[in-house]
Amino acid sequence: MKARLHRPTPAALRQLASVLRDGGLVAIPTETVYGLAAHALDTKACRAIFRAKGRPAHDPLIVHVLDLAHAEELSDFNIAARKLTRAFWPGPLTLVLPKKPCVPGIVTSGGPTVALRSPAHPLARRLLKLAGVPLAAPSANPFTYISPTTAEHVRQGLGSRIPHILDGGPCPIGVESAVLDLSRSGRPRILRPGAISAEQIARVLKTKVTTVRRAGKKGVRLLAPGLLDKHYSPRTPLTMADSPRATGDGQAIILLRKPAGNILPGVYWLSRRGALAEIARNLYRVLREADAGGHRRIFVEKLPPTVGGIAAAINDRLRRAAAKR
Ligand code: TXA
Ligand code: MG
Repeated sequence: MKARLHRPTPAALRQLASVLRDGGLVAIPTETVYGLAAHALDTKACRAIFRAKGRPAHDPLIVHVLDLAHAEELSDFNIAARKLTRAFWPGPLTLVLPKKPCVPGIVTSGGPTVALRSPAHPLARRLLKLAGVPLAAPSANPFTYISPTTAEHVRQGLGSRIPHILDGGPCPIGVESAVLDLSRSGRPRILRPGAISAEQIARVLKTKVTTVRRAGKKGVRLLAPGLLDKHYSPRTPLTMADSPRATGDGQAIILLRKPAGNILPGVYWLSRRGALAEIARNLYRVLREADAGGHRRIFVEKLPPTVGGIAAAINDRLRRAAAKR
């Protein structure tokens, strides 16, 4: 199989929507990263996602819906969940809630909860509307590799395993949604930091929001398999550093800001002036470029922990990318 890249013409969108409705796979742009989408209520279609990604069956899928009304067909909403959808949907916030019986076990890895999000990307919304079905979509990368933020990234990773990629250009946010567990009422906890921060969520809920920091404990592992280490990993060994220096010698460095003067080989940068949103947007593209550069090791500059917002998500992904395999 060789994936076809589609420009987002009205005819292509209609065709891809019908592929999805009929149980086929389509890689689609979202505001965070590209997703590998399939009809969420079709067990066979969802099984094909796991196969294409090489993803273990115990790592559940996020289901994408147009809005709260569609989400409530799939899960039992509580007051906190409704407040958060009002504040942040459509957008990069995924809610984990008790599932309704119509959601197949393959989507939730047999568990009692389902992860739901309403994407803000206009093309993802267009396809949801045209297909008229909820779409299960994990990031469109081979399991454990860096998530894709362009159609070309998807093609490089999955081009020989999936039939269709919708090209919507680079993803505007660049890191995945925040995953928030609301299944135990009154005790919201972040399973994966993302573009919506813990502070933003706490402000809306007016309660404490905890963040599950590391895998390790068995219970956490089962609850949030995405917290496993060795996720988002380049093939080149990666180390986080406070202020990495270029040494040549097969080592690459990734800096938060573009350095002054000529850019030496092996030196990569994430933003022109240190703007967080720009760092997030460029993160996976630059990690991929550095990974393809033939270096022995990559040193990447840490964000100071005091920076709020999406910084927690950026450092989280870097920590996992740096995790020993
Ligand atoms: O931004 C995003 O969330 C992207 C775009 C495509 O929407 N999707 C994405 O999906 O990152 P994925 O599959 O790569 O990551 C989903 C995470 C995984 O860590 C998974 O373990 C967790 O969500 N998850 C899914 N369902 C869950 C559930 N019922 N309980 C706990 N964690 C769940
Ligand atoms: Mg992923």
